[in-house]
Amino acid sequence: MELGVNIDHIATIRQARMTNEPEPAYAALLVQEAMADSITVHLREDRRHIQDKDVYQIKELIKIKLNLEMSLNKEIVEIALDVQPEKATLVPENRQEITTEGGLDVVSEFQRIRDVVENLKRKDIFVSLFIDPIEEQIKNSKNTGADAIELHTGAYANASLKDRAVELNRLKDAAKYAKSLGLEVHAGHGLTYENVKPVAAIKEITELNIGHSIIAKSVFVGIKEAVRLMKQLIDEERWK
Ligand code: PXP
Repeated sequence: MELGVNIDHIATIRQARMTNEPEPAYAALLVQEAMADSITVHLREDRRHIQDKDVYQIKELIKIKLNLEMSLNKEIVEIALDVQPEKATLVPENRQEITTEGGLDVVSEFQRIRDVVENLKRKDIFVSLFIDPIEEQIKNSKNTGADAIELHTGAYANASLKDRAVELNRLKDAAKYAKSLGLEVHAGHGLTYENVKPVAAIKEITELNIGHSIIAKSVFVGIKEAVRLMKQLIDEERWK
């Protein structure tokens, strides 16, 4: 099970004062030292946290993979083609949202998504689509030529304890179905130290992307320790 650490909120703190600290690139190096498998950043159209220069700097500095979260916006796609991260995760984007709310609609936006997937893959970028755990979305994702899907775990994370099992089963079924189609299966959004283990136990899922909870803990224990603690929980579940 690989762990991708989303460091957007290091940039959120910096942008709160429009200053030059804390530096996301420095955080990326510390996350790498803590043995994470990839660094994720979301270059949003409104540049509310990560800036263009952060993406270039991080790509230049790190040895582990860079996963660029991005919308289908033309300008952002051009930046991705120029930076050439190892991985790109396509996500829907809505300016009013606090964070990515739902998955991509790979049914109604099939053509547009397929074109972006094709462009990225021409540059040898591994492409993942962030979708809700719904069979039709998974089938269409496969047809775009994407390499992987990232299952949106937000509904699971936000469910009451009573409804959690239902949402977890949705993730399990979706992961099985996606793997049977030959897609790599990742998951993320809203995962925390408290709710990560049942998702880490789903064998078809091979990568988790976690941001807010790790950065929140790092305020108190430091980012390397926060990454180490999350990896420990995932590994305990995986190797049980
Ligand atoms: N995966 C995707 C596709 C996301 O958009 C986000 C949020 O940026 C995450 C994972 C990480 O979510 P969280 O910050 O809630 O851990």
